[in-house]
Amino acid sequence: FPPERIRNLSIIAHIDHGKSTLADRLLQMTDTLPQEANAQFLDKLKVERERGITVKAQTVSIIHTHTDGNKYLINLIDTPGHVDFSYEVSRSLGACEGGLLLVDCTQGIQAQTLSVFHHAVDANLKLLPVINKVDLQHASPEETKEQIAQTFGLPIEDCMPISAKSGLGVDTVLRQIVDGLPPPKWDGDGKLRALVFDTFYDRFRGVVSLVRIKSGSVKKGDKVRFLQAGKKYEVLEVGIYNPEEVSVGALKEGQVGYLICNMKNSEEAHIGDTVCLLNEPTDPLPGFQPMKAMVYAGVFPMDNSDFPQLEESIERLTLNDRSVSVERESSAALGQGFRLGFLGTLHMDVFRQRLEDEYSSNVIITAPTVPYKVVYQRGKQQVEEFISNPADFPDTTDTRNRVSYVEEPMVNATIFVPTEYVGAMMELCAKYRGIQDEYKFLDNTDRAILKYRLPLAEIVTDFFSELKSSSSGFASFDYEEGGYERSNLVKLNMLLNQKPVDALALIVHKDAAQFIGRQWVKKLKDVLPRQLFELAIQASIGNKVVARESLSAMRKDVTAGLYGGHYERKMKHLNKQKEGKKRLKRLAGVGDDGVQNVL
Ligand code: GTP
Repeated sequence: FPPERIRNLSIIAHIDHGKSTLADRLLQMTDTLPQEANAQFLDKLKVERERGITVKAQTVSIIHTHTDGNKYLINLIDTPGHVDFSYEVSRSLGACEGGLLLVDCTQGIQAQTLSVFHHAVDANLKLLPVINKVDLQHASPEETKEQIAQTFGLPIEDCMPISAKSGLGVDTVLRQIVDGLPPPKWDGDGKLRALVFDTFYDRFRGVVSLVRIKSGSVKKGDKVRFLQAGKKYEVLEVGIYNPEEVSVGALKEGQVGYLICNMKNSEEAHIGDTVCLLNEPTDPLPGFQPMKAMVYAGVFPMDNSDFPQLEESIERLTLNDRSVSVERESSAALGQGFRLGFLGTLHMDVFRQRLEDEYSSNVIITAPTVPYKVVYQRGKQQVEEFISNPADFPDTTDTRNRVSYVEEPMVNATIFVPTEYVGAMMELCAKYRGIQDEYKFLDNTDRAILKYRLPLAEIVTDFFSELKSSSSGFASFDYEEGGYERSNLVKLNMLLNQKPVDALALIVHKDAAQFIGRQWVKKLKDVLPRQLFELAIQASIGNKVVARESLSAMRKDVTAGLYGGHYERKMKHLNKQKEGKKRLKRLAGVGDDGVQNVL
């Protein structure tokens, strides 16, 4: 296929607006997929199917005979819809020239429609608006068109009303993909430049890279270099997905496909990397940035003897998800475990579910934390350190620690909501330390857009569920990284008989510290077992106790023979026991229900 007969596109949409259904329909209409197949082909992983979320970018090539009688190669590149994966989104969009902006007309534009739209504009994509689910009774395609015109400045008459489910209107979409989207184009030398927009690990073949050939071509036997990895390899196979893997002689300019070389170590695979020929060096394609973890959580086996097994599973799970960072961690209360870093909370949830699929509830996952930047004064120098584990956070009230200041990561959030919930949203954002940036109503619709700056730490806990409940489920929320900002943060320690429990330490804003401290000591009082002696439960900032409860001693006759011994020994015993860990799991952890309900 010459470049002018190729179209590379993504379907961009908010979750559940019908992206997978439309992709399936396009595959069926072009006989790429048998008519009766109804499995959503693009969502391969089990957990994705269960949760209805597309995590990994998948791609498929369609060969389509257009009304002009010519055959066209249409590459459909699946983008993960959620903000946690915004880096992967922009990489996959970097492989396209166009996109279908899909909006469910029973819901209208949502926050995520907006954020993927901006990514698409940044990537210079030509967008065709598609209005889905017109078959539903409460569909309002006209209002959705109006929203699209106002919000995105796309012409109303370009909107294509369809039902991805019944297939209505999808033939028009297929025609417009060819007529309305630009073909790939490269001005410059014809050296090989392949953009790696996704990679995965195959047990037998090692790393498989999904690539978009920006210029030149690549074939089996070529000696290539991955610029980011800085290593050379030999190409063992190239091919396309149609929809299964089909090996081809060469991948040429404008095409999308997979590339396998003798890369065995998944750490050498970088999304956004550029591949060139060994003897024809080029500069890297623009825009590569390493992924960075924004949300961290500790993972511990319930039973210490399960540690090697947990280690093995984490290794296996991270093989195909290179964006998870892994470090060992040990806690006095929880034993040996790991500290994992994720791109965001959804990413963490997906990983956690995979882990739990294997372990049922035999792992403890601690409450999510974010990386803080702590700046120390060392002589005349300022030294910064990133700390994601509250246990390692310095006591900022102790001048001997010479902490100059602390910064926390911020996000720029967009909330899309029916106007009647605007008040509730503002209240919610204020509660979570949000600062309003922008606020606007969309004319002729009952929707408003709110923009806020919020601390990331605030939204990794209960923010999302509260947003949903205080808007009757109507608000949609999305965010982008917003850099770091100074903040008055302190470490809140929980002490049992004056001994701090590392796994329960929290980093909180100073103004909220006392309130949170009080809630915690109450909660601890409720869940801790009574001892032979009175147990003091305290919350402190440095040396200053900000909240206190005491748990009275058990009556002697009850405990005789049952309890005994010194508290230290008792605690040690408790920590070793599953019971004790379960209690800690409830306290320190993300609850069993998958929500990070800490307080
Ligand atoms: P994510 O992969 O989670 O982003 O979702 P998605 O955008 O791929 O949505 P998906 O295709 O899974 O569709 C979501 C739901 O909407 C499914 O239950 C579909 O059956 C339904 N759906 C999709 N298109 C239509 C349509 O045209 N009409 C009706 N009635 N339902 C549709």
